[in-house]
Amino acid sequence: MNARLALLGAMLALVAAGGRAATESPAAGTAQGVYSAAQADAGAQVYAGRCAVCHGADLSGTWEIPALRGRFVGNWGRTPLAKLYDYLGHAMPQFAPGTLEPPDNVAVIAFLLRENGAPAGGRPLPADRAALERIVLDPVTPH
Ligand code: HEC
Repeated sequence: MNARLALLGAMLALVAAGGRAATESPAAGTAQGVYSAAQADAGAQVYAGRCAVCHGADLSGTWEIPALRGRFVGNWGRTPLAKLYDYLGHAMPQFAPGTLEPPDNVAVIAFLLRENGAPAGGRPLPADRAALERIVLDPVTPH
C-alpha cells in the first residue's frame, strides 16, 4: 500500500475519533453529587413503603433477598444509572413489577446512592433515561 495514502488514512481516522469525542458529553459519576437531598428524602419514603418489607429497613436484606448496601455497589458499580433505573422499572418491587413511576424510581435511586455513601448535590437526578445513561455509579466506600 502507498505509504502516503496509509498515513492520510490514519490521520483521517484520528480526526474522526476526535470529532466524536468532542460531541459526546462527558460521563459524570455519582461521587460528584448527582441527586438532591430532598429527592433522597422522598426516596426514603418510597423505600419505606415499597421496598423495606423485603430488603429491610436498614437495607441489609435477608438470607434470600439481596442487601442494597455494600455488595450492591459491587454489583452496580461502574455501570450507568440507566441500567439500575431499567431494572427497578421492570423488576421491582418484586410481585408488583412495572408499578414504580419514573419520579419514584429516580427518588429511590437517590436514596440508595445516599445510603451507599454518594454525596448529595444541588440538583435532583433526572427521570430521563438518556441522562441516566451518562451517569456512572462510582464505587465509593459505603459508610
Ligand atoms: C417482595 C419482595 C421485594 C420487594 C417488595 C422489593 N424487592 Fe428488590 N429484590 C427482591 C429479590 C428477591 C431480589 C433478587 C432478585 C433476583 O435475584 O432475581 C431483589 C433484587 C433487587 C435489586 C438488585 C440487587 C443487586 O445487588 O443485584 C435491587 C437494586 C432491588 N431489588 C431494589 C428494590 C427496590 C428499590 C424496591 C422498592 C421499590 C424493591 N427492590 C422491592 C425482593 C423484593
